Amino acid sequence: MALLEIRNLSIAIKQNDTMLTAVNGISFNIEAGEIVGLAGESGCGKTLTALSIPHLLPEAVEITGGRMTFNADISPNGNTQSGKTGNSPVEILSLDEEALCRIRGKDISMIFQEPRQSLNPLIRIGAQIAETLELHGINDKKEAKAAALDMLEKLGFADPTKIYHAYPHQLSGGMCQRVMIGIAAICRPKLLIADEPATALDTAIQDQILELLAHINRDFGAAILFISHDLSVVRRFCTRFLVMYAGRIVEQGPAELLFTSPAHPYTRGLIGAIPRREQRGRALANIPGRVPSIESIEDQLPGCPFAPRCPAIRCADSQARNCCLTAFPPETDLGKGHLARCFMIGAANG
Ligand SMILES: Nc1ncnc2c1ncn2[C@@H]1O[C@H](COP(=O)(O)OP(=O)(O)O)[C@@H](O)[C@H]1O
Ligand SMILES: [Mg+2]
Repeated sequence: MALLEIRNLSIAIKQNDTMLTAVNGISFNIEAGEIVGLAGESGCGKTLTALSIPHLLPEAVEITGGRMTFNADISPNGNTQSGKTGNSPVEILSLDEEALCRIRGKDISMIFQEPRQSLNPLIRIGAQIAETLELHGINDKKEAKAAALDMLEKLGFADPTKIYHAYPHQLSGGMCQRVMIGIAAICRPKLLIADEPATALDTAIQDQILELLAHINRDFGAAILFISHDLSVVRRFCTRFLVMYAGRIVEQGPAELLFTSPAHPYTRGLIGAIPRREQRGRALANIPGRVPSIESIEDQLPGCPFAPRCPAIRCADSQARNCCLTAFPPETDLGKGHLARCFMIGAANG
C-alpha cells in the first residue's frame, strides 16, 4: 500500500451558478519516502491538486469526486509500522475539520511559492516554529525552544539564535523559505507538499532550497510532492514524475523513463523546452499555443484537451485525428509504472 493513493480526483470551480472542471479524474500514488515531481505549464491544475490533499482549497473551489487514502503508518521500506502509531489508513475526503487539523502540519505539511505570505510579520521566527510544535502537543516551552533552535541549525543558519529572535522582514526571501521548510518539517511529516518552492527565488538560492528539501527527504524520511512548471528542476530532484495538462495527468512514471522515452507529445514538448538557466520562464518554443482556460476546456470535451496544440495530431491520418477530437485517450501501460494517455502512442509521431 502507498503512503497516499489518489483515485479519480476531480475538482471544480463555481462560476455564475455553473461548476467548471479544473481537475478531471486524476489518479496517482505517492510511496513513503519518495520524491514525486508534478510538472506542467502554469494553469494546468497543479496548485489545486496540491491544495486538495490537506483540504486547503479556496472558497468556490470544490472536490467533486474521487478518493484519497492516506496511510500514515507506512514506512519508506514499504512495511506497515502497525501498532507503532495505531493509525489505520484514512479516507481524507471523509474526515471532519478537527481530524484534518490533526493531520495538517503533523502528517502532511505544505510550503508555498511566496514564503513571506505564509509567515506572520508580527511574530518572531522562533515563536512561529515553536507554535507549530505546540499545535501538535509539545507544550513544554524549553523543549519547544530547543527543538526550534536545533531545526534552525539543521536549516543551515550560521547563527540560529539570531534567526530565532528575528522578525520575517529582517530575513531575505531565501531565508524565509528555509524557515518555512523548517516549520513544515519540524513535526516530521510523512508527506511534504512543496508548491513551486524555489520559483520566486534567485537561481543560486533555488539550489540551496532544493538541497535542503533533499536533506529533509533523506534525514527525516518525508515523501515530497514537488511541484514545478520547470522540468529542469524536476529532473534533478525527483525519482518519479507526473505530467499534468489542462486538469489531466497525461503521463506518469519513473523519471529516467520519462526523460529518455517520453510517450506523450506534451511531455516531449516540455522536455524539448527545458530552458537554459538564463531563459527560464519562456513559453514552450516547440509547442505553440497556450494552456486552455477552465472555461475553454469545457468546450473541448470530450476530446483530448491537448489536441489543438498537438504536433503529433498534425501528422496523423484523418481517422486518428477524429479519435483525438472526440474522446479522451485511455491510459496505456508502458510497463515499470510508466503510464500515458495518448491515442498516438506507438504511431510515428514527433
Ligand atoms: N480560486 C480560483 N478561482 C477561479 N479559478 C481558479 C482558482 N484557482 C485556480 N483557478 C483556475 O484553475 C486552473 C488551475 O489552476 P492552478 O491549480 O492554480 O494551476 P497551476 O498551479 O498548474 O498553475 C486555472 O485555469 C486557474 O485559472
Ligand atoms: Mg500553481
